[in-house]
Amino acid sequence: MKSAVVLLAGLCAFTAYYVYLPLPSTVSEPWRLMLLDASFRIAQQTCNLGHYLGLGHHLRLLNFIIGTFDKLNPQQAERVKITDTQFDGVEVRLYRPHAKEEKTLWRSVVYIHGGGWALSSTRGSFYNNLCSIMAESLDAVVISIEYRLVPDFHFPVQFNDVLRATRYFMRPEVLAQYSVDPSRIAISGDSAGGNLAAAVCQEMSQDQNETNRFKLQALVYPVLQAFDFNTPSYQQNEVTPVLPRFVMVKFWIDYFNGNYEFAPSMVVNNHTSLDVSQTNSFRDHVDWTSLVSARFRKNYKPVMPSTGKVEILQDIPSLLDVHAAPLLAKKEVLRFQPKTYILTCEIDVLRDDGIMYAKRLEEAGVEVTVDHFEDCFHGCMIFTIWPTNFSAGIRTRDSYIKWLSENL
Ligand SMILES: *[C@@H]1O[C@H](CO)[C@@H](O)[C@H](O)[C@H]1NC(C)=O
Ligand SMILES: *[C@@H]1O[C@H](CO)[C@@H](O)[C@H](O)[C@H]1NC(C)=O
Ligand SMILES: *[C@@H]1O[C@H](CO)[C@@H](O)[C@H](O)[C@H]1NC(C)=O
Repeated sequence: MKSAVVLLAGLCAFTAYYVYLPLPSTVSEPWRLMLLDASFRIAQQTCNLGHYLGLGHHLRLLNFIIGTFDKLNPQQAERVKITDTQFDGVEVRLYRPHAKEEKTLWRSVVYIHGGGWALSSTRGSFYNNLCSIMAESLDAVVISIEYRLVPDFHFPVQFNDVLRATRYFMRPEVLAQYSVDPSRIAISGDSAGGNLAAAVCQEMSQDQNETNRFKLQALVYPVLQAFDFNTPSYQQNEVTPVLPRFVMVKFWIDYFNGNYEFAPSMVVNNHTSLDVSQTNSFRDHVDWTSLVSARFRKNYKPVMPSTGKVEILQDIPSLLDVHAAPLLAKKEVLRFQPKTYILTCEIDVLRDDGIMYAKRLEEAGVEVTVDHFEDCFHGCMIFTIWPTNFSAGIRTRDSYIKWLSENL
């Protein structure tokens, strides 16, 4: 009896220790967030163990677990017409609203889902619901791109898949086939999907042959650079849920099929130290001491080592490729970007990626809306369905859709 009590107390203490995380006092629903984060961490650690035991790559295992949980989610009634097809060999899922009235042309959103270039799918309930709701409430044709994932494929496959499918869709005859208004198309995505959306938007804006242009881009807590892992938001949220800094650095390394041994060095910016000469021309583009306002900078200090590890960029040169890190683009490219919406969360290592991109776009003459959520966390916008229905998820999603609705 006594030992059972001790065991139970121990178990409770262990659970509390495991689940409890110091969170900023501003976060909404802190206990639910801790539980979500603990579940995610347990899943990740189980997958790391599986990886170690040779059961498969940890990201493939994690995506399998996510897919399995996803099937348990209640499937909502189909709000719009959903079709799976291919655009130039790339799988896409199309959402078309039921015509309420006689309509000649629809507006449209090209959507790219998040998940560190490695997780989730257009078909899982999280993104399937989001895109259905978008199609329905915007009364728009939504194209969700099923790009191929890490670890089976690495950069630039994801970028090229999204570019191919998007280019195909933007052809005048394809838009006509789906009755889409060529002057009312947005490109959008969250997290790693926001990265791909921004990169593809830049690429297509420079293409002289492209007859149709995006009216808008809408980026939800996008990943935009792997240059500086010590922006104020990276420092402030180093260990906060659901995306600690080390996990984000590893997603980047996996995107490039790089070596995990570099992770501890990258965390201290040894890959972009001052003695790595090819980094110099990019420094202004990520200089948060001028691009991020004092309210976000607080008292954080730049981490800019004078000597580091030259071999990291030799091994992973794509760390400086604008197709992977759109924040590194030149002003001459940014000038051609469409009107932009960027959603940022305070509890997110990537907050300053978004803030810096917004500032640089503005300086290049682009009209930008920054929609900042002080009490929200990275990834929250997909968490709108019970049991992971966060008020943060519903509020960010509604605000994002409202902006699209008013501007598209
Ligand atoms: C534009 O079209 C021309 C002629 O078809 C082709 O040679 C050129 O490579 C194209 N440019 C781009 C950027 O695709
Ligand atoms: C960063 O680079 C410096 C200089 O090469 C080295 O002394 C330091 O140990 C490195 N730090 C990490 C974490 O790799
Ligand atoms: C989540 O869903 C449950 C059950 O439908 C509901 O009782 C609860 O209020 C919802 N929470 C939020 C934050 O929307």
